[in-house]
Amino acid sequence: MTLDKKIDEYTHRIERALERWLPGPETPPRRLHEAMRYSVLGGGKRIRPLLIYASGDALGTDPESLDAPAVAIELMHAFSLVHDDLPAMDDDDLRRGRPTTHKAFDEATAILAADALQPLAFQVLVSDPALQDLPQSQADLVRLIAEACGSEGMTGGQAIDLASEGQQLDAAELEHMYRLKTGRLLRASILAPTCLPPELELSGRHSLEHFADCIGLAFQIRDDILDVEGETEVIGKQQGADIARGKATYPAMFGMAGAQRRVTELLEAALADLDFLGERADTLRGLARVIAERDR
Ligand code: IPE
Ligand code: IPE
Ligand code: MG
Ligand code: MG
Ligand code: MG
Repeated sequence: MTLDKKIDEYTHRIERALERWLPGPETPPRRLHEAMRYSVLGGGKRIRPLLIYASGDALGTDPESLDAPAVAIELMHAFSLVHDDLPAMDDDDLRRGRPTTHKAFDEATAILAADALQPLAFQVLVSDPALQDLPQSQADLVRLIAEACGSEGMTGGQAIDLASEGQQLDAAELEHMYRLKTGRLLRASILAPTCLPPELELSGRHSLEHFADCIGLAFQIRDDILDVEGETEVIGKQQGADIARGKATYPAMFGMAGAQRRVTELLEAALADLDFLGERADTLRGLARVIAERDR
């Protein structure tokens, strides 16, 4: 199957699963549920779920058991975007080509919708019938996702990002911030199937972890490149927002060519890590290239 067909198949799969788990728009309190649905549905590349399914494909994981972690991670991602856009953080009005949640609703509703998306993620992991006979996998997935989003993961990275506005970081500090705020959740997506049968031996696990670290970092550098050279209509967010806020970014520090060189270097290192998986990892390889070369 071609990469595009696989992406289509997985995208339909995650859209169906998200729709299944989100409370209906008629369920009270209606405004809160409408805001949750607005924040999650109708847009987004779904790159984290795609990585979960592709990684599972490479490892021979039953796709049925991947729906819950895919939904959980996309819900956590959506929560992070709603908070990231708030006036107290990046203060953005446009997300996925539409008004940000606090613009479409109001700030309090946006905060509460994001608040509610977090526990829903863990509720899905412990409630999905496909995982009922796999209590150890459930516990491992809860740990993986909680660690990726907590104070030493995405939330910690967001704190460093905000504290770094208008500051000079060195390259190591900048990459550390990227690895936390964005890399850790992407890494968790790629590693989620390792929490499920069949077991992956240790050296394979280490290779996959290194692949995931490289891709997580490359993703954020590419995001920062697109903030400079992307088109608002294509990226679905306001172009130039990082410069306007004085964000510490890779292009600001190394220039556009230097930033893209680092992305290419990370992609090459990442692809070498997948050799042990042979052809089974072709979709995962394809997604890695999409991440490094994307224009949205
Ligand atoms: C945007 O993530 C936020 C970052 C971590 C850079 P995505 O580029 O995956 O956003 P969507 O989900 O496709 O809108
Ligand atoms: C966001 O980084 C990382 C998150 C954890 C949401 P950015 O602030 O660069 O993401 P965008 O550009 O607003 O999507
Ligand atoms: Mg931000
Ligand atoms: Mg932002
Ligand atoms: Mg950005």
